[in-house]
Amino acid sequence: MKREMILTAGPSITSRELEYIADAAENGWNSQWSKYINKFESTMAEYVGVPFSHATSSCTGGLHLALMALGVGPGDEVIVPELTWVATASAVAYTGAKPVFIDVDPETWTLDPAQLEKKLSPKTKAIMPVHLYGHPAKMDEIMAFAQHHNIYVVEDAAPAVGAECFGKRAGSFGDLGVFSFQGAKLMVTGEGGMVVANNKAAFDRVLKLNNHGRATDTDRAFWIDEVGYKYRMSNLQAAFGLGQLERVDELIRRKREIFDLYEDRLKDVSGLRLNKEAKWAKSIYWMTSICLDQKLRVGRDELIVKLRNDGIDTRAVFPAISQYPMWETQPSPFAINIGDNAINLPSGHNLTTKEIDYVCERIKYHLEPL
Ligand SMILES: Cc1ncc(COP(=O)(O)O)c(C=O)c1O
Repeated sequence: MKREMILTAGPSITSRELEYIADAAENGWNSQWSKYINKFESTMAEYVGVPFSHATSSCTGGLHLALMALGVGPGDEVIVPELTWVATASAVAYTGAKPVFIDVDPETWTLDPAQLEKKLSPKTKAIMPVHLYGHPAKMDEIMAFAQHHNIYVVEDAAPAVGAECFGKRAGSFGDLGVFSFQGAKLMVTGEGGMVVANNKAAFDRVLKLNNHGRATDTDRAFWIDEVGYKYRMSNLQAAFGLGQLERVDELIRRKREIFDLYEDRLKDVSGLRLNKEAKWAKSIYWMTSICLDQKLRVGRDELIVKLRNDGIDTRAVFPAISQYPMWETQPSPFAINIGDNAINLPSGHNLTTKEIDYVCERIKYHLEPL
């Protein structure tokens, strides 16, 4: 009998989300049009530990708004890690500024604060750390550097709702932070994002820019005084997101259990390293990932094909993104190594222990010496 493909991602949805969505569809109009948006935003701000939050249509749109709100534009530079989804750097490019790429720490796969100094220039306006695959960046050092040099910080927290650095949640450190609720994330709304903020002036700019530049200091109806945008979340999506957020502890617990199961079964396989959290971090393990030693007899891409033939869907970790043809390629050895040799394993919420056993058994079969 043909086994069903074991997928890399997949959400957890219960009757709670379905009830909220049905209520929003039936009643969320006219005076109730933003009921779930307001509740989702305020619950998220409280959860993250920030005073302000604003729901958006995607994290990419939210990052664009955040950078514009800080006045990032042509002539400016923004430091972004090499290992991330292209959206981080694209958002910088949308503003006309230049992304400056920095290598990652090989332990956490996130922006290496020790290398910030050499990427700094008089044009540096902001740093965008990424909490990659649910592991927080080393925010204490990044914030100390940014404060010392008077630079803004926008956290790309797309895959990291609930991740913690020294007990403080991702998104709560910088001027602004942005989360994603795209369909493969810890929490899903189909597509969606959330800008969270400590910086009130920048947050007010986010609100105005995301309302087509509508003036707030005049009584004139529909008065627009600058070109703005519309990267907004619908009430229906917010209803979905609120239901997910009310279950966030359970969602994170399951991701961490999945990592523990993989770790238990793969810990003795030589030449393979899991993306285990640092001592100071709490990862939400959005993805459990493994990095292969280049000396193994099977390479990363070959393993992906072999696992696919076994009915197991895995994903290559993002390549170091300055290698893309539209950027200036940087020498970032750690990011290149991880990007060439690491794999995201099936990590969806509905994965069973039996499936994890099977995935690990096949990995061992393909990797271990004959
Ligand atoms: C690190 C990172 N940044 C940004 C994004 C973009 O999020 P969205 O798809 O909601 O725009 C993603 C999505 O995968 C991501 O992983």
